[in-house]
Amino acid sequence: MAAQVGGLATIAVRHAGPLEGTVVVPGAKNSVLKLMASTLLADGVFELTNVPDIVDVAIMSDLLSAIGLELARPQAGGMVVTNTGDITPVAPYELVERIRASINVLGPLLTRFGHVRLSLPGGDDFGARPIDMHVAGLEAMGATFKYSHGYLEASADRLHGADITFDFPSVGATENLMTAAVLAEGTTRIDNAAREPEITDLCQFLVAMGANISGIGTSTLVIEGVERDSLRPVAHDTVPDRIQAATYIAAVAVAGGSLDVEGARPEHMAMVLERFGDMGVEFTDTTSGLTVVAPERLRSIDVAPLPYPGSAPDYKPLIITMLSVGDGVGIVTENLYPGRFRYVEELQRLGADVRTSGHHAVVRGVPRLSGAPVRAHDIRAGAAMVVAGLAAEGETTISGVHHIDRGYDDIVGRLAAVGADIERR
Ligand code: EPU
Repeated sequence: MAAQVGGLATIAVRHAGPLEGTVVVPGAKNSVLKLMASTLLADGVFELTNVPDIVDVAIMSDLLSAIGLELARPQAGGMVVTNTGDITPVAPYELVERIRASINVLGPLLTRFGHVRLSLPGGDDFGARPIDMHVAGLEAMGATFKYSHGYLEASADRLHGADITFDFPSVGATENLMTAAVLAEGTTRIDNAAREPEITDLCQFLVAMGANISGIGTSTLVIEGVERDSLRPVAHDTVPDRIQAATYIAAVAVAGGSLDVEGARPEHMAMVLERFGDMGVEFTDTTSGLTVVAPERLRSIDVAPLPYPGSAPDYKPLIITMLSVGDGVGIVTENLYPGRFRYVEELQRLGADVRTSGHHAVVRGVPRLSGAPVRAHDIRAGAAMVVAGLAAEGETTISGVHHIDRGYDDIVGRLAAVGADIERR
């Protein structure tokens, strides 16, 4: 897969008039990785469709193969996962440290096998990302944890239901506790659960397998544990990626023109579409997604990213990039990841007028950025650099492309096909 050779690659982008045409949005990284991990819960053959061709999927495949699953990609967008039950519940360091979502094997392995040995997870480089809520929740369900030599060991004869209230709607902790609760004895109630569309997608996958979950899509999930032999493998179509959809919307918003963003689900993006609308971007729902029309120039607005259904922090680098060529001054407040303003320095290299102070970024729009070499520090910041390049005179070259490859399925090909002057070198 081309996406695996991102190490020394660069992406070169030049401003080139309006974008026109259709972009098809691939399946969501943050759903498919969890669907893949959840196939550990039942023996048999699972079929996943709308699986993006991204490096994180390849890493998760390697991790699950090391644990004992068989994974194949028989055709583009498809994946077959075979669980023979011959599983070693150990997740090795070399794979876990490459991807935060490796923590998602904890719940399924513990609930099914009663024991897990997991190296502590890595992932994006934006500040400490602890797993205390995962651990506390599983302890409330009867698990015991031990840390030694960089490994987290968890054990439980059989987990039992518990009432768990999160201080904060953690995506990963909601998923781990939910998948663990599927085979626990009795009822688990998770209050202040995260309710991203990817969590709903996982709930629907688990319910199709035979799990008993209510409150799907709300912040209170109630899971009645079932017996192991009542779960069965299923076929499932991964929910489209709302963050990739937003990236293509941001691209046309700064480059000008009009795009059909096929697969975009407006109901999954209500708040961010509202903010984009406030900036002057026009949307029309179509049967298969959205038509997006860029304004002459974007208007500046203030944005405070909040967990879903708020305009989630994952959109923030895109929003700051859009504001950097907007008309006026916009303030963006970061509440979740204080270390996640690093890409601002890169935008400044492109001539953006952005000042950060603590949790705030003040963005004074300029008419046009100016191309320069920049670095992708993480997946979303990397995609924002691509978008910024579309709004910059001259050439912008982006290094650190391996970050973009983790979560974007052929962003270069997709943008080139709608008229962007972009290539991978
Ligand atoms: N947190 C804790 N303790 C915990 C769990 C989380 O302190 O036990 C903190 C984290 O350190 C972080 C914040 O809470 O600062 C958010 O964590 P959360 O668990 O909600 O997020 P996650 O599961 O680690 C997922 C996505 C992220 C996305 C966030 C928020 C995956 C693989 N990752 O991370 O996506 O930013 O939810 O929506 O699903 C990306 O795709 O680029 C990405 C980083």
